Amino acid sequence: MNAQASRVVALPRPLDRPVVLVGLMGAGKTAVGRRLAARLGLHFADADHEIEAAAGRSVAAIFAELGEPAFRDGERRVIARLLDGGPSVIATGGGAFIDPQTRAAVKERALSVWLRADTDLLVKRTARSQRRPLLNRGDPHKILTELAAVRNPIYAEADLVVDSVDVSPERMVDRVLATISAHLDGKE
Ligand code: S3P
Repeated sequence: MNAQASRVVALPRPLDRPVVLVGLMGAGKTAVGRRLAARLGLHFADADHEIEAAAGRSVAAIFAELGEPAFRDGERRVIARLLDGGPSVIATGGGAFIDPQTRAAVKERALSVWLRADTDLLVKRTARSQRRPLLNRGDPHKILTELAAVRNPIYAEADLVVDSVDVSPERMVDRVLATISAHLDGKE
């Protein structure tokens, strides 16, 4: 058995649907999702990357050249397609679960996990990158605080919640796996 395969964990019962990670920008959806998929031996998809591949341009370029509504249309289509693919791990962009249609599809067809993080941590994590158009519009701390006020009650509709704290992505994966296992075991 190779090193990767030996790290694959067994859940109390097999997943019959994708795991979809939701939460604000900087919550760790992509970093955690990729590692979670490896630990579960499942395919990983990042919705933003899939939208970029389909559009042939970056998220920032889609926002700038086509506008946010066009991005949300693409996001809706891409996530619907990814949900068709059976068990996998899907990292969504921060606004995906806020869209009523995408949220309804995710709730119906996936196990959703909200990675919930403090604003200070989100600001720290997103500061390194310029690729998020919503955060380039002003003070990121103010923008993330406002987005959290609006979006957190909606993210709270996810099936499971895991606090995203300042630990390595691997330790976050341990926490997510423990929460999913407890859920499948009927303990949550
Ligand atoms: C967005 C989050 C981004 C990306 C886009 C819009 C949002 O994804 O989809 O910039 O509305 O919160 P990440 O959460 O992966 O940064």
